[in-house]
Amino acid sequence: MNILLLGPPGAGKGTQAKRLEERYGMVQLSTGDMLRAERASGSALGKQVQAIMDAGKLVSDDIMIALIASQIAGLKDKGFILDGFPRTVPQAEALDVMLKKNGITLDHVIELTVDEEVLVDRISGRFSCKKCGASYHDRYHQPKQAGICEVCGNTEFIRRPDDNAETVKARLAAYHQQTQPILPYYRTTGVLSSVDGMAEIDEVTRQIEAILNKSKG
Ligand code: AP5
Repeated sequence: MNILLLGPPGAGKGTQAKRLEERYGMVQLSTGDMLRAERASGSALGKQVQAIMDAGKLVSDDIMIALIASQIAGLKDKGFILDGFPRTVPQAEALDVMLKKNGITLDHVIELTVDEEVLVDRISGRFSCKKCGASYHDRYHQPKQAGICEVCGNTEFIRRPDDNAETVKARLAAYHQQTQPILPYYRTTGVLSSVDGMAEIDEVTRQIEAILNKSKG
């Protein structure tokens, strides 16, 4: 099964994608994680995108489309969860072309809806496992054993440089101006469902699984 998670920064896309990856064996394709890996490696691409990401703006469509195109063909039999792509109308159009070319169907587009006031709070309390990227929160989601990642057992955690109140505003503006316009397209194709992203993390997972299971039965 191939799914796309949509929602503003802090909506819980990464948190839910990691859970689906663990439970169903699908591969999470997080463009944010891919770009952060490029930065950490010191590559030319990483250097090119650093300032854009830190300002909360979107990296160019050409770069993002090439990044996803290099991954998607190999995942035909495995299934994937797109997290962070597409984020603009040209990216959504390019995704369609890529999927058709590879004979892949997008089974579900799931939008996580969250009130804007809570997003800054969620993002400013976020920290992630340095090794596997699992996402935690100072108040809402601490690892079960303090200081140890629940997913991979690693003990080192990091905070993102773009997780501050000022950059979050720019990221939200980019979401409203450039990403929300892709929603009507997916609505017309009949694959879009909305999930209440304000609910507790386990409940959000249950709602997503209900959508996935409905289509199986
Ligand atoms: P990216 O990494 O994709 O960031 P984002 O979309 O801003 O999303 P986040 O990772 O901030 O949020 P999330 O929805 O995954 O929330 P999470 O699960 O962590 O992109 C970063 C940058 O890369 C962009 O700004 C851009 O520059 C560039 N980029 C990436 N893709 C691009 C593209 N396609 N085109 C152009 N540029 C691109 O949850 C947040 C926190 O809340 C966590 O602490 C979590 O524990 C907590 N939480 C989650 N769910 C709940 C819940 N239900 N209740 C309470 N707390 C919760």
